Amino acid sequence: MLSIATHNLTETQRLGERIGRHLQGDETFALVSPLGGGKTSWTQGLAKGIGASSRVTSPTFVLERIYTGKKFFLHHFDMYRIEEKDVESTGLLDILGEAVVVVEWADKIRGLLPSDTIWVTIKIGKGDERIFEFSFPKEKKYVFEK
Ligand SMILES: Nc1ncnc2c1ncn2[C@@H]1O[C@H](COP(=O)(O)OP(=O)(O)OP(=O)(O)O)[C@@H](O)[C@H]1O
Ligand SMILES: [Mg+2]
Repeated sequence: MLSIATHNLTETQRLGERIGRHLQGDETFALVSPLGGGKTSWTQGLAKGIGASSRVTSPTFVLERIYTGKKFFLHHFDMYRIEEKDVESTGLLDILGEAVVVVEWADKIRGLLPSDTIWVTIKIGKGDERIFEFSFPKEKKYVFEK
């Protein structure tokens, strides 16, 4: 487990961006936090890090948005309004490992995600502090290089 604190929106976006720069194109990120924890903000940075130029907005209502990076795609899902029995119909399970996949509210579908998923739990600290806790298998360590 790796724990990194941020203290404002920009720091959260920069954290996502740094991670985005190391990606190979097949990683799955499972994001878990309370409402407004910073999942979408962190994903904005991640998208920048892979070279995507369009602005990342919340996929809560559309379920999925797709961004084009320099070398691969980013599929951004939000499971907030989804029931586990309807996950199959979103296409999420078919794209795993074929693109960078980010899933907000991933705790709702925990059992359906691959074993090499990088789990990102965001806790809300005092004021604007957010504590990002990353759990990942050893082979994904490259994602967190400086
Ligand atoms: N350290 C921080 N990191 C990220 N966002 C912060 C931070 N401090 C304050 N904020 C504010 O918190 C909000 C985070 O919103 P964001 O949409 O990224 O969260 P979310 O987890 O995706 O929310 P939702 O649960 O609705 O999907 C923004 O309004 C942002 O300005
Ligand atoms: Mg969000």
